[in-house]
Amino acid sequence: MSTTNDDFPTDRPAVVTCGLPYANGDLHIGHLRGYIGADAFSRALETLGQETAYVSGSDMHGTPIAVNAEQEGVDPEEFALEWHEQYAETFPKFNVEFDNYGHTHDETNTELTREIVRTLDEEGYIYEKEIQVAYDPDADQYLPDRYVEGTCPYCGAKARGDECDEGCQRHLEPGEVEEPKSTVTGNPAEYRGRTHKFFEVSEFADFLTEFLDGLEGTSNARNQPRQWIEEGLQDWCLTRDMEWGIDYPNGDNETTEDIVLYVWVDAPVEYISSTKQYAERVGTDEYDWRRVWEDDGEIVHIIGRDIIQHHTIFWPAMLEGADYNTPRAVAATGFITINGKGLSTSRNRAIWANEYLDEDLHPDLLRYYLTTTGGLQQDVDFSWDAFQEKVNGELVGTVGNFWYRSLLFAYRNYEGTPEADVSEEVSERIEGAIGDTREAVNDYSLRDIGQAATQLAQFGNEYIQRNEPWKLTDDDPERAAQVIRDCVQIAKAVGVLLEPIAPEKAQRLWEQLGEDGDIADAHLEDALEAPPRTFDEPGELFAKIEDDRVDELNEKLAERVAAAGGDEDEDEDEDEAEGEETETETDDTASDESAAMADATADTDALEPLIEDRIGFEDFQELDIRVGRIESAEGIDGADDLAKLEVDIGFETRQIVAGIKQLHDLDELPGEKCILLANMEPAELFGVESNGMILAAGDEADLLTTHDDAVVGEKVQ
Ligand code: 2FM
Ligand code: ZN
Repeated sequence: MSTTNDDFPTDRPAVVTCGLPYANGDLHIGHLRGYIGADAFSRALETLGQETAYVSGSDMHGTPIAVNAEQEGVDPEEFALEWHEQYAETFPKFNVEFDNYGHTHDETNTELTREIVRTLDEEGYIYEKEIQVAYDPDADQYLPDRYVEGTCPYCGAKARGDECDEGCQRHLEPGEVEEPKSTVTGNPAEYRGRTHKFFEVSEFADFLTEFLDGLEGTSNARNQPRQWIEEGLQDWCLTRDMEWGIDYPNGDNETTEDIVLYVWVDAPVEYISSTKQYAERVGTDEYDWRRVWEDDGEIVHIIGRDIIQHHTIFWPAMLEGADYNTPRAVAATGFITINGKGLSTSRNRAIWANEYLDEDLHPDLLRYYLTTTGGLQQDVDFSWDAFQEKVNGELVGTVGNFWYRSLLFAYRNYEGTPEADVSEEVSERIEGAIGDTREAVNDYSLRDIGQAATQLAQFGNEYIQRNEPWKLTDDDPERAAQVIRDCVQIAKAVGVLLEPIAPEKAQRLWEQLGEDGDIADAHLEDALEAPPRTFDEPGELFAKIEDDRVDELNEKLAERVAAAGGDEDEDEDEDEAEGEETETETDDTASDESAAMADATADTDALEPLIEDRIGFEDFQELDIRVGRIESAEGIDGADDLAKLEVDIGFETRQIVAGIKQLHDLDELPGEKCILLANMEPAELFGVESNGMILAAGDEADLLTTHDDAVVGEKVQ
């Protein structure tokens, strides 16, 4: 079954999901980026009038839970349930409102997982094979997944048994990790033969290729898996030697006791189970979960980029093999860094969810920061200074300032919305912002959703300044009423547009405008509907974050990191990447600057400031900028984002490494003209020499080029 790619909204029900957090530790900003992002996207779909459910749940099984529970000497079920309950309480505090938040160990998911595995078995996609499994003779136990560590056979990085979490992010099959070491005793592990169940993913190569061609979302979620398919798909081991998990179902509904399903089998099934639970709660007439998952609904997965393989290879193959509907979109977010360094839970270099709440910082501020700083697939750096700058500049200075001055002026002079029609200029501007929001949703761009609202508020501020209503109230009262009527309408429109990102603040504005009900139920077109005639005196909705508050927050973070044995001056190479629990930048060269420049009409607050120091013509002449033509482009093994290009520059062909692997279809680049800095110092990236620098701008690394008669090798001047 396949989805069509009509623009949202469609007449089919949609489900938005975010990756399930392992129920094994405190939530931090890395988790929140995904959960808030998916919440904002689901709210935005609803403002378009798309019927949408937002579901997720806690990931209760696997070694991530078993290992941590064991360390605490607690039963894994009890351990995971406790974290699950804490997560369910924490998400709403960030205005993340799931229609259903379940967990993978409940009956719905256990039954559905078994049913799907049985179907795959009946369809002939599962077979048994003897493989080599790591074993610890001292502990006398098999060592699935996180019970073993070693070296990644693909990129040489330190890796866990089932994932290269510090290197190329590949999923690793049992037996693949080299120089295996037991995490139970620290001793070298040995490999022993065991029989396990395998899913024939390799049978799905053609299906997956076609699936990826139609897949929406971020380009990294299409490009990485295409490369894996090209390299040849391996079948997927579905079972593990451990007790904690869902027992493998045999055909007759019996289970095999000493073998459980790999956690990545039952985890994504929770997307279906959670949707089903939601539908059963509200009534299947109200929300048709079967249409979503078994027919033609719109499935949108928002995930971290470390789990692309699971969502674009294993999961769609499982769905297709068991005759379910497959995703319309997979949007994979970049990682979060803290003060330019990898987020690390063990070094306590993280912003913890509860810590943020304890500081009494409003959740919508973090929501705004995380969704609008950089594009979805870019890594986003968090620092309290950058947070302060964004909040004070965009939310306090632009949005809050506009809301407050408009509503206060309207209240003082008209006790609410003046009786006048909205001007053509303003209704056209609001319609433009609605159009931008629609486009942003269809592009899966949270940042553009936020920017459409902020830019409208920016326009509002300019509009007030330009029309100076305070000078008109006496001289031209009719015109004054008209200008303020426009401003009140813009204020309401900004609220409707900003609601997906900052729902609580938008609701407060809604109430200040005297509107009934929830702004979350408003559709984009309501931005053009007149607000009530009267409203009460407004209050300010955003407060400036003062410098001494930031100093205090910085100090607390530095002290925490130091107490955990870290040091803010430590070498970047020492930063750890911790896969799903912590996230770190590795080789992503798509910079924040390029993100900020993605939109030619961007709010200048979001752009990198202009450099004050001027350079002379002679300095410019030293930059040997040339027109080139790309001859070939291929990915670099082990580097998520880097591509190796051969570029004809007229005199010779240069090898250049560029951070565009996930942002471009590499097959389409040969033949394209580009602009490059030819006298860049040579550098080596992932062992590959780079002899020049390709110039690009924007979130998607839009390659600069020429359009007319410039020939290859010509100097740019
Ligand atoms: O990587 C992780 O944190 C997993 N717990 C995500 C599971 S997402 C899904 F497929 F269920
Ligand atoms: Zn690797």
